Amino acid sequence: MTNPAIEARNLSAGYGKQAVIRNINIVVNPGEVVALLGSNGAGKTTTMLSLAGELSPLEGEVLIDGKPTKAPLHVRAKQGMSYVTEEKSVIMGLSTRDNLRVAKADVDEALRLFPSLDKRISVAGGSLSGGEQQMLTLARALGRHPKILLADELSMGLAPLIVQRLLQAVREAADTRGTGVLLVEQHVRQALKYADRAYVMRRGVVELEGTAKELASRIDDIEATYFAGAKA
Ligand SMILES: Nc1ncnc2c1ncn2[C@@H]1O[C@H](COP(=O)(O)OP(=O)(O)O)[C@@H](O)[C@H]1O
Ligand SMILES: [Mg+2]
Repeated sequence: MTNPAIEARNLSAGYGKQAVIRNINIVVNPGEVVALLGSNGAGKTTTMLSLAGELSPLEGEVLIDGKPTKAPLHVRAKQGMSYVTEEKSVIMGLSTRDNLRVAKADVDEALRLFPSLDKRISVAGGSLSGGEQQMLTLARALGRHPKILLADELSMGLAPLIVQRLLQAVREAADTRGTGVLLVEQHVRQALKYADRAYVMRRGVVELEGTAKELASRIDDIEATYFAGAKA
């Protein structure tokens, strides 16, 4: 049996001694797209930071390819992790082409994934639309052919068609290259169309998990319980 690409085991973490996320158990297998869902403040980003090596566990551990690790992000990146944070990773003063090159991403492959970037290839990152910047961000992250992709709110504030294109690209990386993907998404319904499984967090713990199909079949219920009016 292959090891999970990445796993959190009984993980607790926070920004001081106080845990913000508690006893988190998450598994992402190679070739799987897994969604991490929950309202604002539920602890999704804190979980991602811990998996990425940016935040040390207070308890529990993170395993990569079955081995416990305490390595910082730059080491995990060398071992094949791409981490797309909530901040955009586009270099504003460089063209689309140069953004891809400095990320060591293949330009042709990026254009195949996102054909609409073709006519924007010489345009500076800072002049791209929000959707184009996020396509470029994802193309940069996937262009390195990571074993693990952690993506936090990749499609925030974008139009449905662009959300779909981003999710399709992630799905393709999982299917064709065996990338293990963990995706924080506010577009819950769309995410469940592309994910294999999902975890739903509330108040720092995982309260619900299941296959995407199973969760999608009771989406109204789940939205009412975990997302409705929960912006605060
Ligand atoms: N840098 C920080 N310092 C202290 N508390 C933080 C910090 N970042 C987030 N928090 C708190 O941790 C909790 C979870 O936040 P976060 O993981 O960002 O949630 P989500 O990504 O699900 O919106 C929130 O209560 C938030 O206020
Ligand atoms: Mg967040």
